[in-house]
Amino acid sequence: MTLRPSGSPDEVRGTVKAWQAEGLTVGFVPTMGALHEGHLSLIRASVGECDRTVLSIYVNPTQFGRGEDLKRYPRRLEQDCRAAEQNGVDLVFCPTNEVMYPAGSTTYVSQDSLIDVLEGASRPGHFRGVLTVVCKLLSIVPADRAYFGQKDFQQTVVVGRMVKDLSLPVSVRVVPTVRDADGLALSSRNDHLDQQERHQASCLHRALTKALQLYRDGERNPLTVRAAMQGIIEAASLVRTDYIEIVDCETLEPVKEITDRAVVVLAVRIGQTRLIDNMPLVGTDPKTDEVDDT
Ligand code: PAF
Repeated sequence: MTLRPSGSPDEVRGTVKAWQAEGLTVGFVPTMGALHEGHLSLIRASVGECDRTVLSIYVNPTQFGRGEDLKRYPRRLEQDCRAAEQNGVDLVFCPTNEVMYPAGSTTYVSQDSLIDVLEGASRPGHFRGVLTVVCKLLSIVPADRAYFGQKDFQQTVVVGRMVKDLSLPVSVRVVPTVRDADGLALSSRNDHLDQQERHQASCLHRALTKALQLYRDGERNPLTVRAAMQGIIEAASLVRTDYIEIVDCETLEPVKEITDRAVVVLAVRIGQTRLIDNMPLVGTDPKTDEVDDT
């Protein structure tokens, strides 16, 4: 392994500040490791826009609920460091739990309303854990830009809100979802699907594409769009819907009429695995044939 990860907040913060003192811009890609093409697209976005890129790899226990997949979350540090280096990362921060949550830790970052719906309703406490760790990471890695994937849509909204509300001096960049050939959004959790489950998992993207198509054809009633999506999901025998919603891109409130501020979001269970995906309607112009389904 050539790119040696650092576990020291002081070392990482010092390096970032020294780069910035030289006039260099710094991009930050927070991850939980098990890097796939989705993460690499965040790294490439940062490398393309910034002079230096910092990657963090930390499986954050506070964003996993009881009975969730913390223990079986894949961990492959060496492989990740190699991929990071090959894709232009300059520094990897890989802290321990003791560093991130020192003994006696009692401070958390929370939010009203946004964190209690959708993923937050299905996974109580999840976003408190995400916001807390992202806030801590941004304090250790005082980057100019931080990169998040569109796949975790609600995460981008709550993190963006936190950055605004706490006046954190970082610009949040959202990078389009990377998909497999059949449209399934890349996720470390896809590794848990068996062959039949993986095959049926393509229904998520088919349902989202159907929603986009209906919108482009002029449908504005969220109930009609949801029903069409539900039909596609129900046809996949191994897939159970957790939620299908059409929400405002900032408030996350369900919309009464679909406009281009809407984002179609869904979560399903396939066997033991929970998958999420979304389709922003922002930027899709129903009057043209251009479909931007990233
Ligand atoms: O998206 C993720 O991988 C995690 O939620 C993050 C942002 C690294 C925080 O642990």
